[in-house]
Amino acid sequence: MMLSCSTWYEISEYLEQFDGVIIPAGSTEQHGPIGLIGTDAICAETISERAAERAHALVAPCLAFSPAPFNALFPGTISVTESLFARLAREVVSALMVQGFRKFYFLNGHGANIAPLNSLKTEIADASVRVQSWWDFPQVSELRSRHFGDWEGMHATPSEISITQFTTRFVESPLALEPPEKLSPEFLRKHAGDRHGPAEEHMRRFPDGRVGSHSALASSERGKELFEAAVAAVSEDYLTFVKASGES
Ligand code: NI
Repeated sequence: MMLSCSTWYEISEYLEQFDGVIIPAGSTEQHGPIGLIGTDAICAETISERAAERAHALVAPCLAFSPAPFNALFPGTISVTESLFARLAREVVSALMVQGFRKFYFLNGHGANIAPLNSLKTEIADASVRVQSWWDFPQVSELRSRHFGDWEGMHATPSEISITQFTTRFVESPLALEPPEKLSPEFLRKHAGDRHGPAEEHMRRFPDGRVGSHSALASSERGKELFEAAVAAVSEDYLTFVKASGES
């Protein structure tokens, strides 16, 4: 059930039975030569939508503007500060709490959202907050490494692009055919959670926008597999979360 496609009477009825909501969180940033700018938002939103059908849950509109300062020079990227993103997420939670929502499940699709979303856990009293990135579930992770190994990389990953190819749009470009620079385990560790350098430096180092990810390995078939694994994991995890956070 999508909040934006519901009436207030329907939400009122939902609240008589439930007090949980899934909030997808993505980004609006370049994803290399064949990745859509909305990749993170599309992944988080489409997985949330399908998982919510299974779990009889409600999905709020996606938080699609988020921090991606390292990609700010690539045309189309819209980056906002981490403090604004954290504040927006906090205000969305507060606005829904006024009406009786108490359980907030953030399904995340963008590394730089993790820290600001996690900060809500301690900042908001009288509510339960869970932050989960779609790629982190063991069954999804296993598919990612089985299909793409080291070429999954960090950004414009074949996994996320596979999902958008399955759900949304397929783009071809000769610019993505060559493998990107392979990143060292040390680089991966140091830059986890999108801890990248300033925009100029980032664009100079990764001129086509891929960060260690061989995007061209993506396919719609892999996307379907990853999507279905993520949907199953999210619906199960959401139900466990709302149950563990107390009966509504
Ligand atoms: Ni992404």
